[in-house]
Amino acid sequence: MEPRPPAWPLLCLLLLCPPSCPGVGAQKYRDFKLQQSQGPVVMTTGETLTLNCTVSGSGPIGAVRWLKGWGSGNRNFYEEKGSSSSRVTRADNESNTDFTIRIRDVHLEDASTYYCVKFHKVNNSEEVFKRGEGTKVLVHARPSEPVMSGPSRRAVPGQSVPFTCSAAGFFPRDIQVKWLKNSVSVRAEPPNITPELSSSSYNMSSTIQVVLREDDVRSELTCEVQHITLGSPLRRTYALRQALRVPPSVSVVAAPPGAVEVNKTVNFTCHVRGFYPGPVTVTWLENGTETNMENTTELTETSQGLFELKSTVTVQAGEEKNGSRFTCRVVHEDQEPISSTGTLRIAAPAQWGPSDSYTGDNKNLLIYVAVGVVCTVLALLVIAILYLIRTKQNKGKSSPSARLHEPEKSSGTTTTQESDPNNLTYADLNFAKEKKSIRRIIELSQQSEYACIQGSSGSSSSSSSQPPASSDNLTYADLDMVHLSKAPRRPPPRPEESSSEYASVQIQRQ
Ligand SMILES: *[C@@H]1O[C@H](CO)[C@@H](O)[C@H](O)[C@H]1NC(C)=O
Ligand SMILES: *[C@@H]1O[C@H](CO)[C@@H](O)[C@H](O)[C@H]1NC(C)=O
Ligand SMILES: *[C@@H]1O[C@H](CO)[C@@H](O)[C@H](O)[C@H]1NC(C)=O
Ligand SMILES: *[C@@H]1O[C@H](CO)[C@@H](O)[C@H](O)[C@H]1NC(C)=O
Ligand SMILES: *[C@@H]1O[C@H](CO)[C@@H](O)[C@H](O)[C@H]1NC(C)=O
Repeated sequence: MEPRPPAWPLLCLLLLCPPSCPGVGAQKYRDFKLQQSQGPVVMTTGETLTLNCTVSGSGPIGAVRWLKGWGSGNRNFYEEKGSSSSRVTRADNESNTDFTIRIRDVHLEDASTYYCVKFHKVNNSEEVFKRGEGTKVLVHARPSEPVMSGPSRRAVPGQSVPFTCSAAGFFPRDIQVKWLKNSVSVRAEPPNITPELSSSSYNMSSTIQVVLREDDVRSELTCEVQHITLGSPLRRTYALRQALRVPPSVSVVAAPPGAVEVNKTVNFTCHVRGFYPGPVTVTWLENGTETNMENTTELTETSQGLFELKSTVTVQAGEEKNGSRFTCRVVHEDQEPISSTGTLRIAAPAQWGPSDSYTGDNKNLLIYVAVGVVCTVLALLVIAILYLIRTKQNKGKSSPSARLHEPEKSSGTTTTQESDPNNLTYADLNFAKEKKSIRRIIELSQQSEYACIQGSSGSSSSSSSQPPASSDNLTYADLDMVHLSKAPRRPPPRPEESSSEYASVQIQRQ
């Protein structure tokens, strides 16, 4: 009865102390058993924890309670009447033997060693009658969904920009972070891990520097977080185009190019090429002054994901606009404007002439060439004809010449006088070359050449046959003088008829 804690067991034994004495109780409630044999439990936040505890046999009057931890910090974790937390429930409220409890939605703070304890009343105060082995509970926490952040402003290709991946509230501390650019691993420093102060979890953040490229419009940066609590890694993907600005190239092209005639129309087209993102502001200026010219604008996306824009203004080439400058000013992403200028050039009227006569020159040149060709052809023709004529003439010369040879003795006038009482003179037809060739020539030329000599009194074959002259006159024919008359076909010439090699000349005498 007297509170003498240190000597309690001994006193109890000696003084037959009341049932509240553990030692005595243990003896008295020999068959009372408290079962808490659950080993360490690893939970992940959010799960439901079951803590088993059963009692058997008869025990002293007193409650069975769950204590969290042991020592000075012990505190009643579960009470039959109104649990300490709405998350904690008994598995079987009615049971006097099963004191299993469930803890819903486990928090990191729930990590501890839990004891199932049987109390008994001693002098109106509760004393521990029996304590279980204790169940150690570890609580892991999954990292939060990773968050990725890029640069606050877009960067141009070539610039190195930081990207950060972070995840929070995980336990234990170990965590792996992998970076991938288009599924290709990128080397990165180990993550920076910091403990949370309010809970026993950790935060991590990992940063890498990426040099942007023009073709990164379609690229993706992925951060992959692996932790013991995760079956498969958590991924976060960042489209690099969000961080990319590809400035355009700007050029103005006039169509038609060069100087134009007055009052013709000229199209100035502004080519804005290879930029990202799409929105651009295009302004046209005429001689440095903003205008609101009618224009056609066309935005297209290239296969690389970059944009192209064409803006065209049409200008009437009035004479007063000679030398006017048309400027295309492009503002992309609030950057400094990029400009390109085209100048309207009107050809001076005098200049059209040359430009016309240029084509005229061409025509003239053509004509000259044509005339030249024609002249050459004509000249060649003439030459050819002359040549033909000449060859013909030559042929004539080489054509069989019939020479009338008087017999040698009878050469001269006397001969003629004396010879041939029969009045027959034989002419020895001496063909210059072989008759065959002659004939061939004759045949080839299809012109029969023959000498028809009809010597009338003393005259040669010349047609001017005179009336019979003096009878004494000897007539001789010098066949040299005989013209081989070319004539259309006549009655078949005798010389050809046979292959006679002699021409007979009959000279009539009177
Ligand atoms: C804990 O108790 C529940 C029911 O009370 C039972 O289903 C489970 O198997 C027990 N677990 C252990 C480890 O004893
Ligand atoms: C950890 O991350 C959480 C959520 O992002 C944040 O609220 C907290 O301030 C971070 N703590 C530390 C120590 O960085
Ligand atoms: C160009 O047009 C203006 C007005 O339309 C006219 O006065 C001028 O004669 C034209 N000039 C030529 C070369 O056609
Ligand atoms: C193009 O023409 C439209 C009207 O057709 C005008 O509102 C716009 O300002 C013009 N753009 C440029 C760049 O001049
Ligand atoms: C336009 O200007 C150019 C150069 O300034 C000049 O050569 C040309 O003659 C001018 N044209 C007209 C039609 O005045």
